[in-house]
Amino acid sequence: MSAEQQPGRHVDPEATTSTEPEAAPAQHAATAVATDGSPGHVQGHGASEAPADAKTLLSVEDLRMWFPVKSSGVIHRTVGHVQAVDGVSFEVAEGASLGLVGESGCGKSTTGKLITRLLNPTGGSINFQGRDIATLKERELKPLRREIQMIFQDPYTSLNPRHTVGSIIGAPLRIHKIVPENKVLDRVRELLEIVGLNPEHYNRFPNEFSGGQRQRIGIARALTLNPKLLVADEPVSALDVSIQAQVVNLLQSIQSEFGVAFLFIAHDLAIVRHFCPEVAVMYLGKVVEIGDRDSIYQRSMHPYTQALLSAVPDVKQAAIGGRRERIRLEGDVPSPINPPSGCRFRTRCPIAQDICAKVEPPLLQIGPKHKVACHFPGTIGNHPTKPATTGLLGLDADGNADPRASASSELNTSPGYADRWYDIDRQSMTGA
Ligand SMILES: Nc1ncnc2c1ncn2[C@@H]1O[C@H](COP(=O)(O)OP(=O)(O)O)[C@@H](O)[C@H]1O
Ligand code: SF4
Ligand SMILES: [Mg+2]
Repeated sequence: MSAEQQPGRHVDPEATTSTEPEAAPAQHAATAVATDGSPGHVQGHGASEAPADAKTLLSVEDLRMWFPVKSSGVIHRTVGHVQAVDGVSFEVAEGASLGLVGESGCGKSTTGKLITRLLNPTGGSINFQGRDIATLKERELKPLRREIQMIFQDPYTSLNPRHTVGSIIGAPLRIHKIVPENKVLDRVRELLEIVGLNPEHYNRFPNEFSGGQRQRIGIARALTLNPKLLVADEPVSALDVSIQAQVVNLLQSIQSEFGVAFLFIAHDLAIVRHFCPEVAVMYLGKVVEIGDRDSIYQRSMHPYTQALLSAVPDVKQAAIGGRRERIRLEGDVPSPINPPSGCRFRTRCPIAQDICAKVEPPLLQIGPKHKVACHFPGTIGNHPTKPATTGLLGLDADGNADPRASASSELNTSPGYADRWYDIDRQSMTGA
């Protein structure tokens, strides 16, 4: 059921015309709207490629968010922790776009809230424009709030229903004194036009707009302060499928026009495929695979990514070993309060061996722009029978410490990609 059809959701007929179901494509943006409405057919493939020499904007290293679990009763003792995000590292270049994908509950939103500093991290660093913002106090964060903005999943709850669109979009302009008071309305109108809405609708309330239009309002609000980074947390998941492509196209056009970088959070690989030249796959608080588009969609090496890919309808069959059938994972996602030892995916992994329970696989760079956290990395049907990581980790084949070996000094777990990486076939380091 579309947002427009839901009972109790009033949509002004003037705000939505029959020929332009969601919004008129903006003059500045949204020029590449898919005709079939499917998110898998979003156009403008190269629009979000950042220049090759783009500087690093965001560098997240070993980021952790452990929420305390309190006992019931009079004295609330901490009896455990929800390990929502546990040792996450990645980089986003200026004007680039990284997709963050994984099943519900794997820590995507928490990662987004840590980067926007809506949460205080338990550990790790968040380098933004060369400065660690992980431990900044609220007062020090104010300038940062201009630079990093968040677009939320639910356009119904993220807009205050009692405020007009003009005051919602105008508020950040006033708080941060971006434009003089007498210019606020002009800027609001301009922003409405950029996101493809009628600039004269500034005095309407959120409930007078459809779901996709409300998400456009959320996008306009996020753009008010000319951010350098937009964290978009499942920005189209709550929208009707026919509207999703329009909103993704709008974001893509905004990105290429304003050069803003994106962390685009999604629960499946289909949505981010065309938007993000780089994708990170999360499972139970950890990044299990990260790489450029080709590495993830054509040569995925992690069993979890491969299972996710098998659910994407139009992925090339080569990426999933020529199989078309869905890889169904056994069991449920374990609790992040007491995650499995070693590899967190081992309780559901079809190729797990003993070492997987003993040793956590490092997020190992295995190509120029490809990292994977698995002892047996390989495309489907080509996973090695012996662990590929033991030489690097100084372990024997069962995962026990090898007295004759030690962990390689070339084992690099820094965010981003190095010039040298581990060749899994030759089991040695190689380079460009
Ligand atoms: N404020 C919180 N307190 C305790 N646990 C939380 C809190 N926020 C999220 N979690 C837990 O952290 C895990 C990751 O949540 P979240 O980041 O929302 O996942 P995702 O966005 O991938 O669905 C989940 O198990 C969730 O229940
Ligand atoms: S390390 Fe083991 S359990 Fe984890 S994904 Fe690889 S094979 Fe599966
Ligand atoms: Mg979420």
